[in-house]
Amino acid sequence: MLSPQFILLSINLFISFGLCLWPHPREFTSGSSVLWVSSQLNIQTSSGNATTGRYSRGSMYVALAGSWRYLVSQTFGLSDNVSIPTNSFSELEILQSAIQRTQKTITSTRFVPWKFYSKTTDFEPDSSASNQTLTTVKICQSNAAKGTISAKDFFSGDESYTITISESGAADIKSNSTLGTIRALQTFEQLFYAYSDLSRVYTPLAPISIVDSPKWPHRGLNLDISRNVVSPTDVMRTLDAMSTCKMSRLHLHATDAQSWPIEIPSLPTLAEKGAYRPYLTWSPEDLRVVQFYGLQRGISVFLEIDMPGHTGSIANAFPQLITAYNETDWSTFAAEPPSGSLKLNSPAVYDFLGTLFSDLLPRVSPYTTFFHNGGDEVNRNAFLLDDTVQSNSSDVLQPLVQKIMSYVTGMVREARLTPIVWEEMLVDWNLTFPSGSKDSSATVLVQVWKEASTLQTVLQKGYRALFGDYHNWYLDCGHGGFINPYPSGVSPPSIPYSTSGGVPTIIQDPFLDYCTPMKNWRHIYVYDPLANITADVQHLIEGGEVHMWNEQTDAVNLDSRVWPRAAAAAEVMWSGPRNASMIEDASRRLADWRERAVLDYTIQSAMVQMTWCLMEGGCNL
Ligand SMILES: *[C@@H]1O[C@H](CO)[C@@H](O)[C@H](O)[C@H]1NC(C)=O
Ligand SMILES: *[C@@H]1O[C@H](CO)[C@@H](O)[C@H](O)[C@H]1NC(C)=O
Ligand SMILES: *[C@@H]1O[C@H](CO)[C@@H](O)[C@H](O)[C@H]1NC(C)=O
Ligand SMILES: *[C@@H]1O[C@H](CO)[C@@H](O)[C@H](O)[C@H]1NC(C)=O
Ligand SMILES: *[C@@H]1O[C@H](CO)[C@@H](O)[C@H](O)[C@H]1NC(C)=O
Ligand SMILES: *[C@@H]1O[C@H](CO)[C@@H](O)[C@H](O)[C@H]1NC(C)=O
Ligand SMILES: *[C@@H]1O[C@H](CO)[C@@H](O)[C@H](O)[C@H]1NC(C)=O
Ligand SMILES: *[C@@H]1O[C@H](CO)[C@@H](O)[C@H](O)[C@H]1NC(C)=O
Ligand SMILES: *[C@@H]1O[C@H](CO)[C@@H](O)[C@H](O)[C@H]1NC(C)=O
Repeated sequence: MLSPQFILLSINLFISFGLCLWPHPREFTSGSSVLWVSSQLNIQTSSGNATTGRYSRGSMYVALAGSWRYLVSQTFGLSDNVSIPTNSFSELEILQSAIQRTQKTITSTRFVPWKFYSKTTDFEPDSSASNQTLTTVKICQSNAAKGTISAKDFFSGDESYTITISESGAADIKSNSTLGTIRALQTFEQLFYAYSDLSRVYTPLAPISIVDSPKWPHRGLNLDISRNVVSPTDVMRTLDAMSTCKMSRLHLHATDAQSWPIEIPSLPTLAEKGAYRPYLTWSPEDLRVVQFYGLQRGISVFLEIDMPGHTGSIANAFPQLITAYNETDWSTFAAEPPSGSLKLNSPAVYDFLGTLFSDLLPRVSPYTTFFHNGGDEVNRNAFLLDDTVQSNSSDVLQPLVQKIMSYVTGMVREARLTPIVWEEMLVDWNLTFPSGSKDSSATVLVQVWKEASTLQTVLQKGYRALFGDYHNWYLDCGHGGFINPYPSGVSPPSIPYSTSGGVPTIIQDPFLDYCTPMKNWRHIYVYDPLANITADVQHLIEGGEVHMWNEQTDAVNLDSRVWPRAAAAAEVMWSGPRNASMIEDASRRLADWRERAVLDYTIQSAMVQMTWCLMEGGCNL
């Protein structure tokens, strides 16, 4: 006869234990046999064992004072003159470093899943439950990793994979590319738990079979590193978390009106004067290190240099290039302070852009396939003050905006990168860009951010597009505004347009921001980008991005603002649209993801669900 305790254990396993994978794979099955993981776990490709990876990130760095340069150099051993490849990479080394990271993550996991069982449950397998051990994982990758590969070929790899693990511990990964193998390894890490004495690692769910591939290739996070200080180390930590939920693109909103942290050696004063402090800058090496760190994890890291608006910080070094800089009446000339825009009809601006891009593009293009040219919130009134234009009429401005954006996207295409522009360039300014070419580097990708419905408009014009609008996927919303009312309560008399009193919810109690409420993970999760998109244009969707604008975020609260919500978006982008009936299941899997992110990757992620609800089978209404 079974003891009551054993019956309880069996029932509990039957009711609530399943594979907790994030994002949800296309198909999977699991069993109920225990499999221990050998502490000598060996993950092999046909070409051999993994060598030790060379790069890793250091501990979290909070930029309150001083320079981060020392930390990055130390972390990456750059002081030992270890150089990061500048043109093509060894695909084999990328694969081997991914394997080595997975071996280490699995065998050193500290994730004991106590939160997922009732208080009284003895949830861990008995040592005598099984003697089966997982010792070797065999990887069969149909296109074997080569000595060298370009970023373009690397990132166009087939991301599909399969994983099978038998009851007796035979484990196989199949993929068609290194990128597919990296995705498989990212799933593989989620299969195992630590025993509570941290001496062993196991799965109670063998045999396991997983067949997986993504819905969209572009699964992105847009991270603002201009409005507040975000160091390369903070970005590397973010890349770690992104890789655990199979995100594939990191869009760094690198410069804006508030600061210009990116060093441009041929224009040294740009960052010296434009950064918040001359030492809070990203050197070419910092950028290369971060891009390569992403590449190693299957994430294409690309920059946005927003223009012609959002460029006020250029005025710190080159005042003659910027119109309407830092107007006291900023709301007439920009969406937020300080105002300022590149002049629209100035040869000096074209010279500047030529120098900027011929410096920057060759440095970033080896590691990515994109460059973002901005184009949002172009304020017409700024050009009333532009001595080269002196007009706010669309008829005058439209051809000038077309000319400058054609110029910069043209340079990006020449660097064999795909330009990205914000939706306004197409839907408000009626710009046209080369489209329809088979060569993706010739096609402009359009990023929608205002209304979900604009996606249909953009796709119908024949452009490939990215979704992720502020009603659904903005991570900054709902934490309150940052604009203060004038102490007197009214705008100074010299200011023709009232910036105080005109927007009551922002500058009056309760001081709400424009996109309140906060987009919680459940809202992000059920956003269906295909909801109103006709079937004939859906194939033009490249994917989406969730956005972290950093007016009120720096390294201290970055993790908890971004996670777990970006992971919720990641599942939509990998697995396809979700719905409300999937939330209960998702909360358990996402909570499992969150525990791993916290314990194994030291990500300070916010919570997913109250622990009692996870323990007791859910909290529903
Ligand atoms: C891989 O490592 C295992 C032990 O860790 C060893 O037995 C095996 O020979 C190695 N294989 C190759 C190809 O180096
Ligand atoms: C690194 O390179 C610099 C300049 O090339 C050199 O001065 C320095 O000695 C090198 N450091 C090491 C540890 O090799
Ligand atoms: C595991 O091995 C031990 C000793 O070798 C044995 O007593 C035990 O029955 C085995 N357990 C299983 C489930 O085979
Ligand atoms: C690899 O490519 C083949 C042929 O296109 C395809 O059938 C398979 O699903 C792909 N993925 C894996 C994991 O084999
Ligand atoms: C911006 O304008 C404010 C006044 O409106 C002034 O106090 C401040 O010094 C200006 N800053 C710069 C960098 O021009
Ligand atoms: C253009 O400028 C004029 C003042 O010159 C102003 O009255 C008008 O509102 C502006 N138009 C727009 C669309 O802002
Ligand atoms: C773009 O086209 C629309 C519709 O034809 C028009 O209303 C709008 O003024 C145009 N915008 C510009 C900036 O020319
Ligand atoms: C789809 O359209 C309906 C009806 O206009 C609207 O309520 C809903 O918000 C839209 N959903 C998305 C994701 O655009
Ligand atoms: C959610 O999607 C699933 C799978 O497509 C479907 O079975 C279910 O009915 C949907 N639920 C709702 C509330 O739409």
